[in-house]
Parts: sequence; C-alpha cells; structure tokens
Amino acid sequence: MIAELEKYRTADPANIKYWEKVAHVDAFPEDGGACIKHKDLQIAVFRFSRRNEWYACQNLCPHKMQMILSRGIIGSEGEEPKVACPFHKQTFSLKTGKNLNGDLCDIATYPVKVEGDYVYLGFEE
Ligand code: FES
Repeated sequence: MIAELEKYRTADPANIKYWEKVAHVDAFPEDGGACIKHKDLQIAVFRFSRRNEWYACQNLCPHKMQMILSRGIIGSEGEEPKVACPFHKQTFSLKTGKNLNGDLCDIATYPVKVEGDYVYLGFEE
C-alpha cells in the first residue's frame, strides 16, 4: 500500500540539495493536508490519496496573508491538482503554485517523496 505511494515529483530533481524527513505518513489525513514547520517556514503537505500523489506548498495564502492552506480543499482541475483556500476559495496549482482563479502571486511548492512510511520534502538550500 505504502509502496504504491512511493513516488515523488519535482520540476527539476537536479536542484534538490537535500531531503528532509518530516513525519510518518499517518500524520497526514487521506485526501487532506497538515502543516509542518521547516526552519521558519510553515509548509502545507497534502496526501492526495485519490490521485495516489503527495504535494507540498507554502501554508501562507497570499490573498489575506493567512496561514491556512494546509486546511484547504484539494481537488483537480482537469489534470491539474489544486488546493482551494477555505477562506475565500482562491485556488492554486499544487504543481506550479499558480493562482488558478485570480491574479494573486504564485505560491511556493516543494517536491515530496515517501520512503519507508515516512514523508520527505526536498529543498534547494
Ligand atoms: S485568505 Fe485565502 S482566499 Fe482569502
């Protein structure tokens, strides 16, 4: 089961300097998200079970600067995985960070992989 989830994604794996182990897979709800802290960053990590994929992005919604995206609603727009902020429903691509229904700035996304039942995030520095 977990082996099926052992996949990772990143735009350019060559840019990843290190992977940080953040939590056991059970710390994340099926088809939902949870927030982890990395240095002074809050990062929303999503266990997108319906797609058998994992994603991560900044927890800060750029609309009203709320730390909330880990509580967002995940879904798909065509092939694009997305998260909708629960406050005012601004949506962002979980692949590119692009704001899909407005002109807000892009949000940061992070590569995710699962190995040995643990979730890792990739960082460039
Ligand atoms: S605070 Fe996120 S959409 Fe308004």
